[in-house]
Parts: sequence; C-alpha cells; structure tokens
Amino acid sequence: MTSKKAIRKEIAQLVKAMDPQEKKVSDAKILHQVLGHPLFQEAKVLFCFVSTEREINTHPIIQEALAQKKIVCVPKCFAYGVMKAYAIQSMDDLEPGKYGILEPKMETEITPEKIDLAIIPCCAATTDGKRLGYGGGFYDRYLANTSFKKMVLCRQICTKADLPTEATDIKMDLLVQEDACFPIKNHT
Ligand SMILES: Nc1ncnc2c1ncn2[C@@H]1O[C@H](COP(=O)(O)OP(=O)(O)OP(=O)(O)O)[C@@H](O)[C@H]1O
Ligand SMILES: [Mg+2]
Repeated sequence: MTSKKAIRKEIAQLVKAMDPQEKKVSDAKILHQVLGHPLFQEAKVLFCFVSTEREINTHPIIQEALAQKKIVCVPKCFAYGVMKAYAIQSMDDLEPGKYGILEPKMETEITPEKIDLAIIPCCAATTDGKRLGYGGGFYDRYLANTSFKKMVLCRQICTKADLPTEATDIKMDLLVQEDACFPIKNHT
C-alpha cells in the first residue's frame, strides 16, 4: 500500500487545489452535518480542534457550541507529541501558538473522562474509521485510552478506500462528510 507520507502529500495537493468557493460550500455542508448530529446536540462537553486555513472550518462549530452553553475545550500541543485540552469561553480566548495554530490562552484543563464528544481533524480517513493525521502522533497519543465519541471531519475528496495503519493509530467512531455521516460499528 502507498506510504502514509505519500498519501499526505497527495491529499495536501488535492486540498491546495480546491477552489475557495468550493471549500466554502464543502465547509458549510460539513457544518450542517455536525450541528444536526445527535452526538453534537447531546454533548455537554465538547472537544473540537481549531482549524487552520487548509482545514475544514471548525470556528462556527465552536461558536455554536459556546452559544448553546456547552463546555468547549480545544487542544494545545506540547513537546514530545503531548497534547492537552483546555476550556475556552469565546474565540477571544485563543491566540496563535506553535505553527500559527490558534491555541487556548488559559490552561483550564478538561480531562478526557469529562468529554462527551471529540471533533477531530485528519489528512485522510476511511468510512470504516481509519484515520491519517499530519504525522505528529499528537492525536493518537491523546486519544489512546479515552472513551468519548470520536467524530472525524473529512472531505469527500480526502476520503480513501483504505489507509495504512499502525497499532498506535486510534480508530474513529464516526466520519462526517459533506453529504453523509458514516457511523463505524464494532471496532475495538
Ligand atoms: N500512543 C503512542 N505512543 C508512542 N508513539 C506513538 C503513539 N501514537 C503514535 N505514535 C508515533 O508517532 C508517530 C506519528 O504517528 P502517525 O504517523 O500515526 O501520526 P498521525 O496519526 O498522522 O498524527 P496525529 O495523531 O497527530 O494526527 C509514529 O512514529 C507513531 O508510531
Ligand atoms: Mg496516526
């Protein structure tokens, strides 16, 4: 099978080639899928990645969750592949961190057992729950031994029939695309 590295490169080119209007439409459809999903609607404590330009826009997801009075936490990355989740009250609680990714200013940690649902980024994913990240192992380490629901956002063009995986790659519970959600059953 093609290596993780080669797939990351192929997907990065696909995303880079997206027309800005096409990206907006894709983002809006995925937003609609997330906000309409029972897992989102029922979640009291939500973990959500803060998107960068190249990613599916999660800022409106975070804003809507805050407006609905959910507890929202977002990731902050540290050395050695370590990531933690900290609560925010508004988008003003974010500031650019390493690599220009917006991160929480305050360190009010929300521990994993309090989280109901995590909205997770990917480079590519499969409809049966395999996920390829950007290569840092941050999410795989963070998600290991957690029991909250794991929802990966993945554009149709980034969805693959299969992906190479290692023992440390954590499986997703649900893949959300523009026009469909794929719940993943019976995974360990
Ligand atoms: N729980 C873990 N313990 C130790 N090493 C890990 C763990 N999870 C991942 N790694 C290592 O981290 C490196 C990057 O992993 P991988 O290529 O799967 O990253 P990724 O899934 O693309 O990134 P991310 O998890 O940040 O989205 C690999 O060498 C992998 O073996
Ligand atoms: Mg991985």
